[in-house]
Amino acid sequence: MRISVIGCGYLGAVHAACMAKLGHEVVGIDVDERKIADLSAAQAPFYEPGLEALLQDVQETGRLSFTTDMAAAAGSEVHFICVGTPQKKGENGADLTYVDAATLSLLPYLAPGDVVVGKSTVPVGTAARLADLVAEQQPLAHLVWNPEFLREGHAVSDTLRPDRFVYGVNGGSEDHTAVAVLDEVYEAPLSSGTPRLVTDLPTAELVKTAANSFLATKISFINAMAELCEAAGADVTRLADAIGMDDRIGRKFLNAGIGFGGGCLPKDIRAFMARAGELGADQALTFLREVDAINMRRRTRVVELTRELCGGSLLGMRITVLGAAFKPESDDVRDSPALSIAAQLQLQGAVVTVTDPKALPNAARRFPELQYVENIDSAVDKADAVLLLTEWQEYRDLDPHLLRDTVSSPRILDGRNILDPGKWRSAGWQYRGLGRP
Ligand code: UDX
Repeated sequence: MRISVIGCGYLGAVHAACMAKLGHEVVGIDVDERKIADLSAAQAPFYEPGLEALLQDVQETGRLSFTTDMAAAAGSEVHFICVGTPQKKGENGADLTYVDAATLSLLPYLAPGDVVVGKSTVPVGTAARLADLVAEQQPLAHLVWNPEFLREGHAVSDTLRPDRFVYGVNGGSEDHTAVAVLDEVYEAPLSSGTPRLVTDLPTAELVKTAANSFLATKISFINAMAELCEAAGADVTRLADAIGMDDRIGRKFLNAGIGFGGGCLPKDIRAFMARAGELGADQALTFLREVDAINMRRRTRVVELTRELCGGSLLGMRITVLGAAFKPESDDVRDSPALSIAAQLQLQGAVVTVTDPKALPNAARRFPELQYVENIDSAVDKADAVLLLTEWQEYRDLDPHLLRDTVSSPRILDGRNILDPGKWRSAGWQYRGLGRP
């Protein structure tokens, strides 16, 4: 099929490459010339495992091209809207500027039978509004909502082999013309057994925000338990192992630590609360305010624990932060708890050095006042305390004996509860986890 993908960020670039991998002829369109130049040269504009290899692989087939010219969407039968919906400045709601602009600029190129597929995370009700715009311009075209559930760091496999497809269509019927079109787009994963659900438009939009809210709630639940464990002298990691063995609960997303961040969960739960308020259903989501508060409290808690670990004062203390990305296998620092803690420590008088295998350029743009060091040995050199805040494999594998000779004082705060406390303590370290004795 001929497909256009509008927006080539974390979602769209991966989606375009994966659609070409599935055998379609794809054009990726974005207003950012640098991004388009990188992608045209089969270079990923951000770090995502497997993306660059995939771009090179499909480039050779001639089925994938990139441009800044929206006119290139003409002739495609399916148009995916993959632009961002960031949090509005100074407000909780989602900023729909990019979704609206992408849709409006696509309208003149729509032909009868075309299907516009929304993938961006939007406030419920947006799809119906955009469907009206499409119908006004081209009554024989359709708009469907097909939310994306990919995780950064696993974006390629999540796109090629998702858990499920959700198609939101006007009226919610399997017989809607666009259902067969999307089935053709996703023929390969569907034929290998990926389930798909057809719903109406608002349900499809809500599936995405509900899923992200549930994940955020799960993380904040275990972080609330971590607060209790700290007060009672219990171990939250063992508690999570034990409750996670009940398969109604499950162990995934029960890792207590410095909390969630990134370009999705924090802004999505806030936009969901804002939208519920507009719909007069704000009471239904007041618990998400608590989910958000528990999450933000983890960051303050880590600053306080670091102060304790440093003997009561942060002033002049040399602190090394391992990890700047919001999660491993990503260079994304949007709302990164690691970076926000690093900045807060610096504000409170510590001398902070940050290291990360991939995210330093993005981190330096976000917080230029921090010191960034690529090499981990140089980063920890003469440190008064080391904070492990993003669980990259190379930090999991650190040897406490070797590291001890480099630092000034062997104190470690394990913000992701991934190190073996016994091993670190017996190597002479003062170890602190979160929610652990
Ligand atoms: C999330 C959703 O998982 C994905 O389905 C959706 O499409 C986009 O938002 P992503 O933002 O890539 O994906 O990251 P995710 O793996 O969900 O992690 C989010 C945050 O939660 C990270 O900061 C991570 O470190 C944190 N987290 C995750 C925890 O603190 N504890 C856990 O147990 C799991």
